Amino acid sequence: MRIALLGGTGDIGEGLALRWAHDTDHEIVIGSRDPEKARSKAEAYEAEIEDRGVDTKITGFENGMAADRADVIVLAVPAYHIADTIEAVEDSLAEGDILITPATGMKRDEDGFHYHRPGAGSVTKIAVEAAPDGVPVVGAFHNLAAGRLTDLDAELGIDTLVVADDDSAKSTVSSLAEDIDGLRALDAGPVANAAEIESVTPLLINVAMNNSGLHDLGVRFD
Ligand SMILES: NC(=O)c1ccc[n+]([C@@H]2O[C@H](COP(=O)([O-])OP(=O)(O)OC[C@H]3O[C@@H](n4cnc5c(N)ncnc54)[C@H](OP(=O)(O)O)[C@@H]3O)[C@@H](O)[C@H]2O)c1
Repeated sequence: MRIALLGGTGDIGEGLALRWAHDTDHEIVIGSRDPEKARSKAEAYEAEIEDRGVDTKITGFENGMAADRADVIVLAVPAYHIADTIEAVEDSLAEGDILITPATGMKRDEDGFHYHRPGAGSVTKIAVEAAPDGVPVVGAFHNLAAGRLTDLDAELGIDTLVVADDDSAKSTVSSLAEDIDGLRALDAGPVANAAEIESVTPLLINVAMNNSGLHDLGVRFD
């Protein structure tokens, strides 16, 4: 499949791009608001994969052009810009495309990170409300640490929880997730359950911050 990562120049976008490019034959397109930044990150990611002896082609384009080239589009941008980003690329989305959001709204204070639940109920729900008709939204990858994905020597052995109201889109995204070595996708139900998943992300960061030797934590359900 052709997967575009909008904001793929950032941390989680880099991690997912590297893992898919390394472990699968999916075509990876990096999106950015700045096409030059997208191209240069795409080249750097491609060089990193090729250094490991794996042939790959990663391209970079402005977000709208990246979305236009893909069947599956990951919104790898800050939670507060999910709706703007969907609106900015709306004309490039075709019926049957799938949007994925890994975004979590968090606030930090002196005690740690806290889930900031938006009025819509979850960031995933904000994406559903912003998406054009016929373009399903799937929530996934919220609880993965970018640092662990980006370190290709790190074994994953973790789960990602997947929520969507469209079963076919959920199944497509679950199989894309499981194409990454060591990642298991678990069905967590409809979008109405997204807030519980989003709220685990600040919990993982707080646990890592308070326990020396722990970092880039993930979750494994057993
Ligand atoms: N980092 C993690 O470990 C992690 C894990 C799970 C989920 N997430 C979620 O994934 C999303 C991205 O996280 P991240 O850590 O990768 O973020 P990030 O590195 O801070 O930002 C990702 C990209 O978002 C784009 N961006 C920044 N401001 C924007 C704006 N105003 N409008 C549109 N795009 C903007 C930038 O791309 P350009 O400048 O190239 O456009 C940036 O490279 C967040 O919603 C986060 O909750 C992150």
